[in-house]
Amino acid sequence: MGHLERRRPNPAELASLIRFRAPTFKRRAARLKAAADIWDLRAIAKRRTPAAAFDYVDGAAGREITARRARQVFDSVELIPRILHGTAQSDMATTIAGAPSRLPFGIAPTGFTRFMQSEGEIAGSRAAQQAGIPFSLSTMGTRSIEEVAAAAPEGRNWFQLYLWKDREKSKALLQRAAAAGFDTLLVTVDTPVAGQRHRDTRNGMTIPPELTLKTLVDASYRPEWWFNFLTTDSLKFASLSDSSADLPTIINSMFDSSLDFDDLKWIRALWKGKLFVKGVLTAEDAAKAAAAGADGLVVSNHGGRQLDRAPVAFEALAEVRAEVGEGLEIILDSGIMSGADIVASLCAGADFVLIGRAYLYGLMAGGQEGVTRAIELLAKEVEVAMQLMGAASIKDLGESSIRRRHACQDTAWVRPSAQTGA
Ligand code: FNR
Repeated sequence: MGHLERRRPNPAELASLIRFRAPTFKRRAARLKAAADIWDLRAIAKRRTPAAAFDYVDGAAGREITARRARQVFDSVELIPRILHGTAQSDMATTIAGAPSRLPFGIAPTGFTRFMQSEGEIAGSRAAQQAGIPFSLSTMGTRSIEEVAAAAPEGRNWFQLYLWKDREKSKALLQRAAAAGFDTLLVTVDTPVAGQRHRDTRNGMTIPPELTLKTLVDASYRPEWWFNFLTTDSLKFASLSDSSADLPTIINSMFDSSLDFDDLKWIRALWKGKLFVKGVLTAEDAAKAAAAGADGLVVSNHGGRQLDRAPVAFEALAEVRAEVGEGLEIILDSGIMSGADIVASLCAGADFVLIGRAYLYGLMAGGQEGVTRAIELLAKEVEVAMQLMGAASIKDLGESSIRRRHACQDTAWVRPSAQTGA
């Protein structure tokens, strides 16, 4: 043992260090405050949400190869710091689809959201409104267009359309979205059929959940989820009558696998606001979407939930940007779990980013406050990365600010949870 000169502890010194926290009844707030990143929110979400709902969010298609690769690719990007650059503050504001956003990311459309946590779309839209960022409502949302507009009247609400077999119903949805002030339409084109989500199959997932012995055991240690679920109005899906069928059956009965670019032109003619085509991964499709009149593209593989082994969105970005140039805006999603992922995407040519799971983990961890916490954590990570990179504004983030490590061998440093799940 080395030599140390010891003294008696000084009680006065000790007293000045003591920080006993007053007992708090705001357990949700305390829990969320202790989360340092989205992975922590995911861990809280997992503890508090029945396995079927958590896995529906966390899982992806097939062997989840695309979902896993997205994370590996983000991990392999280096952000280049710039020293002594005199950047006192970094401004994260930007514009997308013709209007401002206080942060360079928004909330992606997700279906069945009240199944994850009862506050669902109302929590997402209100948290987005508060943060000054766009919220996207899915066609498969569990709150209606009008309910979201009423919950977040000052928010930038976007609507996501799956083109239905019934064209008149699609048209009616677009008219309702326009009337409710939704300014941007995302037309999702990567779901001609449902992806194969093996976790859902294994969990025997149904909406609403079936009360089996397994579900009851699950409920016994997730009481808050079940209490919320049983004491709020039952899950409803806009214009879906057979909501007790399993997911692929619902999706397959609703979507039209014979869709083509003429259908996109039909939508373009109907929708007067900004229109983004969501699910583009190749130059060829980007060119066709542009020719059909899109204002922008969402480079996305649906979070790896559709075609397993589809290209990673981050890697598809360069090809799509080269095809459309600066004429079209490009939004990127799939795999974003940190502010560094957002910054890397903006450097690589995306104009904006959407978050799916990252916000749902927040929602499952603590309703609207949880979504706010997720946004806050990501925003702080973006801000600190920009400051360390010497970027005063989003415009300063470009190709020269990133580098790819090709042989990324440091998987030992990746959190174990990052290696499993999506
Ligand atoms: C989705 N996504 C999605 N996309 C869409 O256009 N309409 C939808 O109804 C849904 N539903 C949905 C549910 C759940 C639970 C998830 C996780 C995702 C895809 C979503 O918009 C987005 O493309 C991905 O979530 C992005 O990947 P990350 O951020 O989840 O990794």
